[in-house]
Amino acid sequence: MSRIAILSSAVADQIAAGEVVERPASVVKELVENALDAGATTVDVTVEEGGRALIRIADDGSGMDRDDAVLCLSRHATSKITAAEQLVGVRSFGFRGEALPAIASVSELMIETASEDGAGTQVRAAAGAVLETRETTRRRGTTVSVQRLFYNTPARQKFLRSARSEWRGIMDTMHAIGALRRDVHFTVRHDGKIALDLPAVPTLRARLAELWGHRDVQRFVDIDDVQGPIHITGMVERPADVGTATRRVLLIINGRVVRDHGIVRAAEAAYRSTLPSGVRPSLVLSLHVPGGDVDVNVHPAKSEVRLRDRWPTERAVENAVRRALGLFDASAGIGWRTWTPAAAPSWRDDVHGMEPAALRATPAAEGLFAAPAEADAPADAPAYAAAVAVEMRDTDVRAVDDAPISVPPLLQLRRMYLMFEHEDGVILIDQHSAHERVLYEEFLGVLERGEAPSQRLLFPMTLHLGPDEAEAFDANRSSFEKLGFEMEGFGGHSLLVNAVPMPHPRFDAERCLRETLAALTGDRAAGDAKRHERLAATFACKAAIKAGDIMSPGEMRALYIALANTKLPAHDVHGRSTIVRLSWDELDRRFGRK
Ligand SMILES: Nc1ncnc2c1ncn2[C@@H]1O[C@H](COP(=O)(O)OP(=O)(O)O)[C@@H](O)[C@H]1O
Ligand SMILES: [Mg+2]
Repeated sequence: MSRIAILSSAVADQIAAGEVVERPASVVKELVENALDAGATTVDVTVEEGGRALIRIADDGSGMDRDDAVLCLSRHATSKITAAEQLVGVRSFGFRGEALPAIASVSELMIETASEDGAGTQVRAAAGAVLETRETTRRRGTTVSVQRLFYNTPARQKFLRSARSEWRGIMDTMHAIGALRRDVHFTVRHDGKIALDLPAVPTLRARLAELWGHRDVQRFVDIDDVQGPIHITGMVERPADVGTATRRVLLIINGRVVRDHGIVRAAEAAYRSTLPSGVRPSLVLSLHVPGGDVDVNVHPAKSEVRLRDRWPTERAVENAVRRALGLFDASAGIGWRTWTPAAAPSWRDDVHGMEPAALRATPAAEGLFAAPAEADAPADAPAYAAAVAVEMRDTDVRAVDDAPISVPPLLQLRRMYLMFEHEDGVILIDQHSAHERVLYEEFLGVLERGEAPSQRLLFPMTLHLGPDEAEAFDANRSSFEKLGFEMEGFGGHSLLVNAVPMPHPRFDAERCLRETLAALTGDRAAGDAKRHERLAATFACKAAIKAGDIMSPGEMRALYIALANTKLPAHDVHGRSTIVRLSWDELDRRFGRK
């Protein structure tokens, strides 16, 4: 049965005509969208010479019968809408019925299509005129081949860029469509080589990992938020990672890849105070808004849409992103200063009196981060924390505000959490996780940048290790030395420990060393950096104050300040939260005040 009808001229006029085919990439976009509209689950794209010589899209979609295969080359021939009202909330990519005729008019085009496996139709056209229609056999689906693009319009052919640059445009298009439709298997070949092979996957994260690489997607947190009638999903970059890799922005509204500065700006506004000026986050956002609230027919290539009510949509995006960054948001709100990536300007000038060492040396910073002189360590032993901090100050680039950190009154709950009141609500800090984060960053700094001073033991201690622990020790020996252990082999699997690090007065060096060695057994991580991270994380976990430890007010303050000075205060080294926020709004709601 034929499904295509010619639109009445009134409707046709309502659909503003426009330039659909600008470059090879726009041909690819239109043809792939047609394949998707036809319900394809597999789409193969073949390109030669950046699309100047050949663009071929093969799909396993619905196919067309003989009449439609010819009719689809006529202007305003579409199976997707029949009346203008259907433009409101139209779901298909196409609806203008002008892509195929437009492409056909500037190329040699061939359609091979079948609506069932078996008998099908082949239509050949050149410069818009149908040359031949004949029978063919093929599987259900459609293949459209476009050769010699713009061969009959020299003026436009001249505007084509190099094959390389056109190819790049095609890849950008396929990346966007690939991210949009992870339910479809796409392959892309260029000059005989496979450039992309994207099997269908269940999550956006998995698809983006294929497109960008697995490392890159780790920089993103998921977002999934419903606000009124607006549903927002996607992934947004962690503030701490912004500026460290190529910026990528992908915006999808009701299933279409579009550009919209207002929405992107709203999303960026959510990063307020978590980023230094000048860097902008990578964003992948997909919005579903009621069909009636968005006009998709404002751009010939459909790459922009018009939102009927812009303000609530932008606010919803901002809120959703802010919530996804929630923990960072909380940490930013507590007065954590923001950090800057490498090459920050003149931080040295501002640093006076603000470096962690100075803070920790204040009289209030007793206990956890105080110099051992204030606790019961020998008076001449250098403070590990202070020394590490100096170490980091010399090499680590972090911006420091002019304003000193003001520490609010802190309360310890269940010997586990620190609690305080904030403008936005009640904030809870997990003492162990927080201390772990603090120590992890310090240890990592030590492992990467130099050696830490240690405290010589009056009576060296002897450790007897199992074979696995001994192996772990051998593999990490130099790292342990950097951390401040001074040890020598003592026959068999025994170790003589002469000096130990002193990260804080409660530090139990023997236990920490044993537990770390036990955790590292069987761990043969490859690169130095990875091993350092592993060791720093393990050591931090073992060295950190535990849940169940009582903390003095001074220790709580010191921890607060030290946490504020970390790069990623809101997460511990296992990716768990160190900070949880209960907003006044939430409380008011629960008490029925709102
Ligand atoms: N790959 C395809 N599979 C099945 N039908 C197709 C395919 N490509 C095009 N068509 C048919 O041709 C018609 C015209 O396509 P096009 O010119 O792109 O206009 P539109 O997509 O706006 O309808 C479509 O409405 C559809 O019925
Ligand atoms: Mg189309």
